[in-house]
Amino acid sequence: MKVIVIGGGRSGKAIREALVERGATVKLLSRSTGFDVLLDDAAALFVGADAVVEATGRFTTSRKRATEFFTKSTRAISEAARLAGAKHVLLSIVNCELPEVQGYGYFAGKAAQEHLAHELSADLTTVRSTQWFEFAQQTLERMGAGPVALVPRMLIQPVALSAVAQVIADVAVGQRHSDMINLAGPESMTLSEMVRRVRPTKPLRLPLALPGATWRAISDGALLPTGNVETVGPAFVEWLHKA
Ligand SMILES: NC(=O)c1ccc[n+]([C@@H]2O[C@H](COP(=O)([O-])OP(=O)(O)OC[C@H]3O[C@@H](n4cnc5c(N)ncnc54)[C@H](OP(=O)(O)O)[C@@H]3O)[C@@H](O)[C@H]2O)c1
Repeated sequence: MKVIVIGGGRSGKAIREALVERGATVKLLSRSTGFDVLLDDAAALFVGADAVVEATGRFTTSRKRATEFFTKSTRAISEAARLAGAKHVLLSIVNCELPEVQGYGYFAGKAAQEHLAHELSADLTTVRSTQWFEFAQQTLERMGAGPVALVPRMLIQPVALSAVAQVIADVAVGQRHSDMINLAGPESMTLSEMVRRVRPTKPLRLPLALPGATWRAISDGALLPTGNVETVGPAFVEWLHKA
């Protein structure tokens, strides 16, 4: 079983690990390995692949930039996967398609990406997850400056990335079949609480109450999973103790 993972970030590496545990031959591609999904020919690299996992990301709050990045990535991967006869596994975000969060450009980009993948890919599984436990650290990296970090008010039901990676790997090697899988962790909490537990002393957390209906919705819990969602992985405290 040959699987290609596009995106060398936290998720790409966790997915590679889960695939290797299942005996798959894995190739991880991203700009740091010399492959730019927006510029390079994916078709030649996908020859012989059974599945391609799309885990690319670019952090931006601009709807235009997010939509351009995510749809270009997906167009290239969908088309090349179809030519190679490979399954396409897209990593996405629970509730990113909801109308009340479209005012946040990143979610609008992810929703456009899902829509395009659905249109173009011959054999697609979209695996949506809630925010990962690792999102607390990502927030500190993205929104921190010296001793201070701006932490947006968000009520979420975070999940361990490693548990998400296990499900993605099962799908990629053909142990699970589904068009759409939604994953969440076992309990809800605020992002501020997660950041506090990851870094109890520093930095000083400044709650960021962003204006507008979208952020009101997000701080009130619009990202919390509802309906057909699987609960996977450990509780946050358990995960922290092991980390
Ligand atoms: N963070 C969360 O809590 C969360 C939750 C659910 C879903 N997701 C989704 O999961 C996906 C991955 O997120 P992540 O946090 O793992 O992202 P990340 O750490 O920012 O990694 C994304 C990777 O994409 C690669 N990349 C960016 N532009 C590229 C290009 N033009 N060509 C090839 N590779 C490119 C980058 O590697 P190079 O720099 O080497 O190119 C980067 O390592 C995103 O789509 C995100 O929306 C995230």
